[in-house]
Amino acid sequence: MQTVMVTGGTGYIGSHTAVELINEGFRVLIADNLSNSEAGVLDGIEKITGVRPGFEELDICDEAALKSYLDRNPEISAIIHFAAFKAVGESVDKPLKYYRNNLVSLINLLEQMLIRSITNLVFSSSCTVYGQPDLLPVTESAPVKKAGSPYGNTKKISEDIIADTIHSDPSIKAVSLRYFNPIGAHPSALIGELPRGVPDNLVPFITQTAIGVRDVLKVFGDDYNTPDGSCIRDYLHVTDLAKAHVTAIKRLIENKNKDNYEVFNLGTGQGVSVLEMIKTFEKVNSVSLNYTITGRRPGDTEQVWADTTLANRELGWKAGSSLEEALATAWKWEKYYRESKQDK
Ligand code: NAD
Ligand code: WQD
Repeated sequence: MQTVMVTGGTGYIGSHTAVELINEGFRVLIADNLSNSEAGVLDGIEKITGVRPGFEELDICDEAALKSYLDRNPEISAIIHFAAFKAVGESVDKPLKYYRNNLVSLINLLEQMLIRSITNLVFSSSCTVYGQPDLLPVTESAPVKKAGSPYGNTKKISEDIIADTIHSDPSIKAVSLRYFNPIGAHPSALIGELPRGVPDNLVPFITQTAIGVRDVLKVFGDDYNTPDGSCIRDYLHVTDLAKAHVTAIKRLIENKNKDNYEVFNLGTGQGVSVLEMIKTFEKVNSVSLNYTITGRRPGDTEQVWADTTLANRELGWKAGSSLEEALATAWKWEKYYRESKQDK
């Protein structure tokens, strides 16, 4: 049985990936400093899979603690690196916090991988590296644009750090996965997204408004050059996204990669507008949403969706869930989470 270290594994995407890895027979060791997640997530993973993943509260930026952790877990053969700060707005106010956390953690991991001959890395990148692409759908060979935020820049720099490291020492293999917009929750509603404070992202804001935690959803602009005037994104179900990590890690472990460093877009290939998201959420869940149109959010990309041909062909992966399913699970999770909080 292969042992995979999952940094940031109690977080939103990491926890869903832990489930899929366990389902596929991997031994999962989660290392997370709980800066943006709760250890209770482990209970959810255990309830879904019947297996409790290994867990250690660990800051990947703490080099001594990371070394000690890897000393104690020599069976780790692959790492999926989710751990990072991800709040775009906060990164503008506190850039050094983001550069330190997101880059030092990656450098520490790569150094230890080289020393210990851990050869397989999957890295969480983002469609944010494309900015507003010139051509849609966007392929992996589209130019990487100047980042719109320090957070986005950490993803671009991280990809460069990985590529340069592998160029200097091809004993390491890595895959960067450029996620588009992950939404939804595990169909069991035992794990899901846990935004702290006021959510930045659209779907948690929708579900919190529908349940009454927020008064009104602001639609940031209806005067874009899109069919209904609102921005367009490529929203994919987090469970589909999680499964792509399993195929990527298998590809590396089984030496099926075509290059020592590969990059894949992960999305549905479909662009959906903010207003379409609202309509679909209302229809699927039979709820009505209080929303209002306001001005544009500074820095927003007008429209972006993925060309997923490469991931479809090379990873044998396709986002299988519909938008309806994703939005139904998002709502189920919101309700379950609020009810479980009331029980406590
Ligand atoms: P998340 O905040 O839910 O999960 C990240 C986890 O990393 C959290 O549990 C947090 O406690 C942990 N963490 C942060 N810094 C750490 C450190 N130094 N040491 C140990 N643990 C640390 O975020 P997520 O949505 O699950 O995102 C996972 C990854 O995917 C991130 O790298 C993020 O930038 C990237 N990503 C996310 C999205 C998205 O929309 N959610 C889109 C593209 C890329
Ligand atoms: C989606 C759409 C908003 C909230 C973020 C990160 C990016 C990447 C992907 C990690 C946009 C609109 C939103 C609201 C709204 N993440 N919206 N009202 O903009 O694609 O980017 O996630 O790497 O780095 O910035 O996602 O969910 O914030 O917004 O109208 O209250 O919803 O304008 O069009 P986005 P999002």
